Amino acid sequence: MYFVEGVFTSSFWDWFITIGTLLSIFACFLLIVWIGGDRPAPDQDVETMGHVWDEDLEEYNNPLPMWWLQMFYITLVFGLFYVFLYPSLGSFPGLLKESQIVEYEREMASAKARFAPTYARYGQMDIPELAKDPAATQIGQRLFSTYCIACHGSDAGGVKGYPNLRDDDWLWGGEPTQLIETIANGRNGLMPSAEANRLEGDADVKAVTQYVLSLSGREHDAAAAEQGKAVYGKVCQACHMPDGTGMTALGAPNLTDDIWLYGGTVAEIEQTIKHGRQNRMPAHGEFLGEEKVKLLSAYIYSLSNKE
Ligand code: HEC
Ligand code: HEC
Repeated sequence: MYFVEGVFTSSFWDWFITIGTLLSIFACFLLIVWIGGDRPAPDQDVETMGHVWDEDLEEYNNPLPMWWLQMFYITLVFGLFYVFLYPSLGSFPGLLKESQIVEYEREMASAKARFAPTYARYGQMDIPELAKDPAATQIGQRLFSTYCIACHGSDAGGVKGYPNLRDDDWLWGGEPTQLIETIANGRNGLMPSAEANRLEGDADVKAVTQYVLSLSGREHDAAAAEQGKAVYGKVCQACHMPDGTGMTALGAPNLTDDIWLYGGTVAEIEQTIKHGRQNRMPAHGEFLGEEKVKLLSAYIYSLSNKE
């Protein structure tokens, strides 16, 4: 058990555990005194328990050997010392103030001190410079494997709903400051539903889908696209820009490059426009710290900025 401040919502459980622990140690002590008491003198006959088996096999009521009893006393004294030195009594931290958390923090601090010179050197380099430093991108890649591949894939290639970080197509921008911002503070992408966008039914959805297809030069129904263009001009261009190239400030994707976060089939695009999409890149800054965020940004930057 480890010590966490305020782990219990009321002090009742503190006392419950403290008193329970101490009482059970005391009860063990009484039990041993009881079973170890009343030793017969060496020359006195030992009583039997009154049981006889196989005609002459009797059970003697011999006291426990002294060395055996003393072992019990030693473990009890050890136990008492232990519960006062280490966190065991409710939320009392123990006289030594040692716990898994304290130990963890000590190890983290020592690791930090060990890596400080390396990180200090990287701290002075900018992202494009770091991206060319093989040692730095290797650390970045290792960090990526630990913290990011669950969502972005081990090669950073992404899957539906999780963007590819290897291409040069960005929702939120691929400049160093934008990457740092994305990784440190997270991002929330919100594409409103047709209802929220006040589209008029499925006809509008279908028409504007045809227009979206035309933006990336895909095969489309020209008449429907013409109709969709009007809807696009009224509603969509505020976020996706009049020419459809998107807006990194809002994370609104470029619709002209035929790269799709949610899939590029007609059905998938209609689905996006009809129901909207909500997506979240979690913030990692507080948890990873500035240096690791920088190395991760450099690694991501290196993926799409190859010479
Ligand atoms: C829980 C899943 C999850 C994890 C873990 C995660 N990401 Fe993301 N990330 C996302 C999603 C979802 C988006 C897209 C957000 C959007 O649609 O606006 C995203 C977006 C991004 C972007 C912006 C891409 C663009 O096109 O602008 C970058 C860069 C990024 N993540 C890097 C990372 C890094 C580095 C890590 C590891 C520290 C990481 N992500 C961990 C889910 C995750
Ligand atoms: C309020 C801003 C906003 C408006 C208005 C808006 N969008 Fe979006 N759209 C976004 C954002 C942000 C995303 C990315 C969502 C995400 O990251 O999950 C997106 C995603 C999309 C996608 C998915 C692209 C892909 O790569 O899979 C399509 C298609 C799309 N929008 C079309 C439209 C159309 C058509 C309209 C008008 C009817 C429209 N959007 C209106 C902000 C907007």
